[in-house]
Amino acid sequence: MKHLLTLRDTSAEEIQNLLELGAAFQEVINRPVKKVPTLRGKAMITLFYENSTRTRTSFEMAAKVMSAEAINIAVAQSSVAKGESLKDTVLTLQALKADCIVMRHSISGAPMFASQRLGIPVVNAGDGRHEHPTQGLLDMLTIKQAKKGLAGLNVAIVGDITHSRVARSNVWGLTKMGVNVRLVGPRTLMPADAHLMPVKVYDNLQAGLDGVDVVNVLRLQTERMDKGLLPTLREYSRLFGISQKSLKFADKDVLVLHPGPMNRGVEISADVADGAFGINSAVETQISNGVAVRMAVLYTLMGGSGSPSTEA
Ligand code: NCD
Repeated sequence: MKHLLTLRDTSAEEIQNLLELGAAFQEVINRPVKKVPTLRGKAMITLFYENSTRTRTSFEMAAKVMSAEAINIAVAQSSVAKGESLKDTVLTLQALKADCIVMRHSISGAPMFASQRLGIPVVNAGDGRHEHPTQGLLDMLTIKQAKKGLAGLNVAIVGDITHSRVARSNVWGLTKMGVNVRLVGPRTLMPADAHLMPVKVYDNLQAGLDGVDVVNVLRLQTERMDKGLLPTLREYSRLFGISQKSLKFADKDVLVLHPGPMNRGVEISADVADGAFGINSAVETQISNGVAVRMAVLYTLMGGSGSPSTEA
């Protein structure tokens, strides 16, 4: 592996290796002293053209636990604000001797554009509505560990599919591992090419959730939405919101995921988000697993030395 741009172009074997490596790194981040020398002397630079809390911080955490330098570019305060092009920006970071660039951009394909011009690894941390491969991997690790395997599970991805890079990375990653994936949402938020993906499409929540093992709930991404796709948030919430009531359609041990940030009371009710009343909410586990899989990705792309669990 040279870059991580999409799960669509990552093989089942590569995904399997990253998930196993991620599981090995979970032990490292749970130690009282979270530090191994694996990437000592290397530098990762994050370049985020869109907002982020979880993804950017967990990449930084992942690099630091492995003793790499983690440098964050604040795009609004950088020369991007003076009109510097993406090409010149990434070439500058390479000339500064970065060993890896982790990039988020509002334009689908921007990380691929960068990867074609650089001799160092590029990780896509979310590009427009295209893919978010490390989110796909952390969702897969979370599901795999909670359900003791992936093959044969039924997973429903619910909500604003059109604008979601999380949905696309989940579809490609999960189906490669033998999971049956359903896309569930109003027709106005279902991409025109949904029928070309290896999934079943539902525009009714009850039918879409029927017997599923896992529900992955998506945020309504209003920042990427044209007006007029939804009558009201209240109606959306009534028809497609994931609540204790709507989870009754799913398997009784259903696991609920949400990539965050959550709109409580819109796509997910507060009690489901918080795992109240015995509901299996994986939201916090997903965040911790995000550090572990990002360690696995950086270790693989930046050429980590020693075994993942090398003592500090
Ligand atoms: C997601 C993203 O940015 O695509 N968030 C994340 O990385 N955890 C999902 C979202 O913004 O809704």
